[in-house]
Amino acid sequence: MNTQTSPVTDLEAYWMPFTANRQFKGKPRMLARASGMYYETPEGRRILDGVAGLWCVNAGHGRFEISQAVAIQLETMDYAPPFQMGHPAAFDLANAVVKIAPAGLDRVFFTNSGSESVDTALKIALAYHRVKGDAARVRLIGRERGYHGVGFGGISVGGMVANRKAWPASMIPGVDHLPHTHDLKRNAFSRGLPAHGVEFADELERLVTLHDASTIAAVIVEPIAGSTGVVLPPQGYLKRLRQICDKHGLLLIFDEVITGFGRTGSAFAAQEFEVMPDIITCAKGLTNGAIPMGAVLVTNKIYDAFMQGPPGAIELFHGYTYSAHPTACAAGLATLAIYERENLFARARTMAPVFEQAVHGLRGLPHVIDVRNYGLVAGIELDPIAGSPGARAFGVYLKCFERGLLIRTTGDIIALSPALIIEPKHIDELIDILTQALKE
Ligand SMILES: Cc1ncc(COP(=O)(O)O)c(C=O)c1O
Repeated sequence: MNTQTSPVTDLEAYWMPFTANRQFKGKPRMLARASGMYYETPEGRRILDGVAGLWCVNAGHGRFEISQAVAIQLETMDYAPPFQMGHPAAFDLANAVVKIAPAGLDRVFFTNSGSESVDTALKIALAYHRVKGDAARVRLIGRERGYHGVGFGGISVGGMVANRKAWPASMIPGVDHLPHTHDLKRNAFSRGLPAHGVEFADELERLVTLHDASTIAAVIVEPIAGSTGVVLPPQGYLKRLRQICDKHGLLLIFDEVITGFGRTGSAFAAQEFEVMPDIITCAKGLTNGAIPMGAVLVTNKIYDAFMQGPPGAIELFHGYTYSAHPTACAAGLATLAIYERENLFARARTMAPVFEQAVHGLRGLPHVIDVRNYGLVAGIELDPIAGSPGARAFGVYLKCFERGLLIRTTGDIIALSPALIIEPKHIDELIDILTQALKE
């Protein structure tokens, strides 16, 4: 058994994702073990996890029920083909997801990641209009600063330049973007949803006028954007998007890869913000990050539109070898059971004001130009070092790691998204270390 305690001597073969490989390999930062709110380095240094791994370990690390369920599943049946065959855990997990999902999102398609969920959702949206005989609806609307994973569909509707600029000719055609809603001038140091910016949603009307509704299939947004540095929806913004989509027959897709499974205090942000999308994409917290898995939730209306034609016909030519993988389903079922038994979504809601109070205490520290938060998410924006965007926050990231805290940075924004099991003592420790790092 590899317990990850022996030092790795050759780091060259592994091409690390979204990482400065040469810098990292010159001075690696390794994690070897994890339990509860903490990681441990190979040398045994404790690192408080301020980001639930990567927004996914919502029930905390090392949950025995999950590893046990996975082990039992592996021993019972390691793999089952998902095409034209089923296994009970896949149906059980779909039912369990539907039970906590917004009413009406009653059908679940399984994938292996957030990126695959997004591409699946976009393909379903396009195919939906086609099966309804509305085949001219081929355009997709994303948003500036949106992050929807790294598939060609996801980067096309996404709006982060670094993720797009290397592939300018490979984007899917017919995509346009809404403006982002980040407005520091009016909304800096907001607590909860920012007061200003509902009118950003009206840009959708402009795009509809430009392209004509009859050419647009769907709009995709993150209810709370995370990877782009915690951008919160202005009050009323998502509702207005919904109204405009309804008016023009556009599907509304919420990418809930980070907001799903309790981060806001509700199972999904759609419930928290009381806006019902037609499609939800999710991943991460579905299995507590233990086994890769994603899902796409759609309304009955969408599912039923596909259930036409001869009963022997395959209705959607889409799927993955590992869709509804038995071990992922086992992990998902165990994870959802923990969320329910420990009432973790409600716990996130209870801890949110404590967290809010603590993070807003960072206001006034050197270079902090904004603090924003919702549920158990916070963004701390720093003023950039002239000519070196991202360097200031990355410096803080390194300092935090040295001092025993894992945070996440995008550009000069620090994102915090701790596990929902976080206690006040962890919040104190997190803020303490972050304060020291910011002061340096
Ligand atoms: C909103 C959103 N969509 C999609 C993704 C992509 O998920 P994955 O990395 O599992 O492909 C992410 C990842 O952070 C995300 O935050």
